[in-house]
Amino acid sequence: MSKIENAVEMARNKRHATQQESQGQVPPEMPRLADQDPAYAQTKVISLDKSHLEKHRLMMLIDDPKAVDCYNLLCTQLLQKTRDKGHNSIMVTSALKGEGKTITAINLAVSIAREVKQTVLLVDTDLRNPAIHHYLGCDGQKGLRDYLLADEPLAELLINPGLAKMVVLAAGKRLSGSTEILGSPKMEKLVEEMKRRYPERYVIFDCPPLLTAPDALIFSSYVDGVIFVVEAGRTPRDEITKAIELLDGKNIIGLVMNGVRETRRAYY
Ligand SMILES: Nc1ncnc2c1ncn2[C@@H]1O[C@H](COP(=O)(O)OP(=O)(O)O)[C@@H](O)[C@H]1O
Ligand SMILES: [Mg+2]
Repeated sequence: MSKIENAVEMARNKRHATQQESQGQVPPEMPRLADQDPAYAQTKVISLDKSHLEKHRLMMLIDDPKAVDCYNLLCTQLLQKTRDKGHNSIMVTSALKGEGKTITAINLAVSIAREVKQTVLLVDTDLRNPAIHHYLGCDGQKGLRDYLLADEPLAELLINPGLAKMVVLAAGKRLSGSTEILGSPKMEKLVEEMKRRYPERYVIFDCPPLLTAPDALIFSSYVDGVIFVVEAGRTPRDEITKAIELLDGKNIIGLVMNGVRETRRAYY
């Protein structure tokens, strides 16, 4: 059996083992973040709407085994490439808008949360075009913007999407000129704090595209690694090249080919 087949097989086994969890029943041995830090005890739990999740192809309930395998494989590869180095802060970006960054970031985070040893914090860092709150069905949710601009306490902004070991910081209301605030010392300090807080926690940042504003490039110097999403058959080759060139010297952990059109036979 090849390495990839092995990994897919392992991921498939893991999926069966965690089926219960995906249905919202959390096995008792799974520690909740609230057990590790009293700050999380206040975390608001949001209830997810099944049809909403399915519509957006979110993995909490997705029942397409191929898609689940792909995200689990991505998760396995991420863990392999980061764990030994102590890297735990990863941004998801792409060249342009609408290429599947947010879907990839959410599904990767869910996959990480299902790993026995890991917990995950998912942060919507795309302040210009926030989307995580929408995909999770909690429109109007406050988040990162409210922490950065209005000093609202983080503990009151974090939400739990009903999955053990996963916490989400939404973006809050859209912010058109976000470059300055994302590049501020306050943001850098927050990322540093998030990285150091729990050794077993991954922090996934859903970032803006690289070619439409400087935000993502600035942010790339705060994190340990970058996952670059390409929309299969749509992202122009020269845009991919330009974006990758911008990331010169950064730790590109992997490239995700996202096949967005549902009519395609292969998900990726
Ligand atoms: N693999 C996929 N399968 C089906 N639809 C997808 C997939 N990836 C993205 N989409 C859809 O494409 C649109 C853009 O995806 P999104 O993740 O929000 O992009 P980005 O964050 O890069 O702007 C959304 O409507 C999303 O539901
Ligand atoms: Mg997005």
